[in-house]
Amino acid sequence: KTYRLAVLPGDGIGPEVVEEGMKVLDALTKADSSFQLETTSFDWNSEYYLKHNRMMPEDGLSTLKEYDAIFFGAIGDRRVPEHIPIWDLIMPIRKNFHQYVNLRPIKQLPGVQSPIQTDGPIDFYVFRENAEGEYSNIGGRLYQETTDELAIQNTVITKKGVQRLARYAFDYAQKNGVRKIVNATKSNAIVHSMRLWDESVKEVATNYEGIAVDDVYIDALVAHLVQRPESFEVIVASNLFGDILTDLGAALVGGLGLSPSANLNPEGDFPSMFEPIHGSAPDITGKQIANPIAQIWSAALMLEHLGRDDLALVVMNAIEQVIKTRTALTPDMGGNAKTFETGDAIVKQIYHQ
Ligand code: NAI
Ligand code: MG
Repeated sequence: KTYRLAVLPGDGIGPEVVEEGMKVLDALTKADSSFQLETTSFDWNSEYYLKHNRMMPEDGLSTLKEYDAIFFGAIGDRRVPEHIPIWDLIMPIRKNFHQYVNLRPIKQLPGVQSPIQTDGPIDFYVFRENAEGEYSNIGGRLYQETTDELAIQNTVITKKGVQRLARYAFDYAQKNGVRKIVNATKSNAIVHSMRLWDESVKEVATNYEGIAVDDVYIDALVAHLVQRPESFEVIVASNLFGDILTDLGAALVGGLGLSPSANLNPEGDFPSMFEPIHGSAPDITGKQIANPIAQIWSAALMLEHLGRDDLALVVMNAIEQVIKTRTALTPDMGGNAKTFETGDAIVKQIYHQ
């Protein structure tokens, strides 16, 4: 089958790591004739914004809609206000394409050191609500430039929005024999939105026999994640909580250079988007020292979503092999390889399998 893939390399290290991701995908098309790609690359990034005063063309979303998947690097550039790339590119894609599940595996690959001592490998999934929640642009500021200046920022939680995310997480738990889902909450202090969140999760849980929900306050949860991360299997979290939990999670399993994500539209009526959880890393841009594994792992998540679990496994085996043998690792993993050398080593492993 030929899949249509939209590639958005973005800014900073985005293009550097996306190039390695594409190398891996191309290798798969050569190794397996039943997997073919028709790829279009889009230069919708901060450079584009500086030229056109927008992050993507007016018909950008209807262009992307025609693709089977979106492979995204990272976005953000010092010359453009921080909120612009997020609100004019990433959020419109996530929200308009109903990518309401942000799936973030926090998985310690063999051979990767965690900065903390554990009683076993760290391996859990965070299902982050991705289309509403705390990341809203509803609100405003009053009395500006006075000492009484104030800001109000609204959180939007809908029962439907929470339940569709929760159903996805419970389905995953059911398929994988997970008996307990941790619900990240703060309904003791955030009494309107978080209470609706908790109630909505509970209601979904009643349809899944044998799977318990454990409400854990977010502040306690971050402490537990540091004390015994190996005991977690599935966490459901709101947009903000999930964002924070997964950067912490990333730090526990080798850092941002090793952490992928999938923005999923489970119904398949719009394309889903696959990107590392890291940003454009301006501090290391242009040096070819960014770790491409998060991006390549994101490609593996994309393959799973496209129904090619077999190819996802090939990619993951290749990544694990390169890590285990410590060939071609970038400086964040204690090596001295260049970004492209890690990519090349993973490709070589793919041809070996
Ligand atoms: P960041 O994730 O870009 O970088 C944080 C730290 O991790 C930096 O020290 C960086 O060098 C390191 N790092 C990140 N990815 C790495 C990799 N693949 N290999 C090795 N080291 C890596 O986050 P930061 O610095 O807060 O944000 C930089 C820009 O990225 C900002 O403009 C921000 O808005 C944007 N951003 C974009 C995201 C996206 O496109 N989805 C997500 C997060 C931030
Ligand atoms: Mg983040």
